[in-house]
Amino acid sequence: MFPQHRPRRLRTHPQLRRMVRETVLNTSDLIYPLFAVPGEGIANEVKSMPGVFQLSVDKIVAEAKEVYELGIPAIILFGIPEEKDPEATGAWHDCGIVQKAASAVKEALPDLIVIADTCLCEYTSHGHCGYLQVGDLTGRVLNDPTLELLKKTAVSQARAGADIIAPSGMMDGFVQAIRTALDEAGFQDTPILSYAAKYASAYYGPFRDAAESAPQFGDRRTYQMDPANAREALKEIELDVAEGADMLMVKPALAYMDIIWRVKQASNLPVAAYNVSGEYSMVKAAALNGWIDEQRVVMETLTSLKRAGADMILTYHAKDVARWLQ
Ligand code: PBG
Ligand code: ZN
Repeated sequence: MFPQHRPRRLRTHPQLRRMVRETVLNTSDLIYPLFAVPGEGIANEVKSMPGVFQLSVDKIVAEAKEVYELGIPAIILFGIPEEKDPEATGAWHDCGIVQKAASAVKEALPDLIVIADTCLCEYTSHGHCGYLQVGDLTGRVLNDPTLELLKKTAVSQARAGADIIAPSGMMDGFVQAIRTALDEAGFQDTPILSYAAKYASAYYGPFRDAAESAPQFGDRRTYQMDPANAREALKEIELDVAEGADMLMVKPALAYMDIIWRVKQASNLPVAAYNVSGEYSMVKAAALNGWIDEQRVVMETLTSLKRAGADMILTYHAKDVARWLQ
């Protein structure tokens, strides 16, 4: 051993460790997902996601207030509509549930950033993220007809007050289509956070309980990416950047940290990581059994996502983390 090489020297005291710490998680890095349902006074806990609720708009506003007061800068809204149909009417209608939630939150809390998830799976009767040929039972979503519905959805969400549009359906050309539609409607200043590299992941299971959006047949592998592919993520990123994305998302997060790292190296745009439902549920289940130290596991995971290159983290742990950081 060379006597001059003793890395442990810098680990001898907590203050010294603090001084040389390379990555620090902040409350400003967090985005909190919320699920809006029709009705009033409703808070249904999602069975597979302890601590996560489907909330009616009045409860969403109260929750958003708590989030804002904790110093979390943004929420992302998902909606569960009254009715689902093949055209996903609930997604793009001005009286849709996300539109209602967005305008109520913005009215109560103008300084909280509201991100609208722009997809169709919560609103289609078959649960796919786009338009299907009538009679199709394979779930092969038609790309270009879906773009038309996504354009209407994004514009309607922006009109309702959404500050950021986050298309998540992995349709080809969706960023360009939405950018053009937003610009034409006068929303030139509304940024697009593209779910640029979104994988066909088993980690979305609990979310589909929360959003009631599981596909009724088939799966999402013809539009979401194959977990085995990394170069393909760079191709997706390249296209989304060219089409005018303002921010890029990688999803899920934990099993895809190499992708977060590569996306960060490959572009100069802010990178978001989605710490998805299954990642949350696994931690919760183990914590409720007393098998892990929840706070330490969550802080370690999210700090590591930031170390891997995430500038922002969408996480169901956001409120807990904000409290721990206070
Ligand atoms: C669908 C969508 C999914 C999530 C958000 N929007 C995944 C899916 O059902 O394919 C997953 C979020 C999570 O698991 O927390 N557009
Ligand atoms: Zn979808």
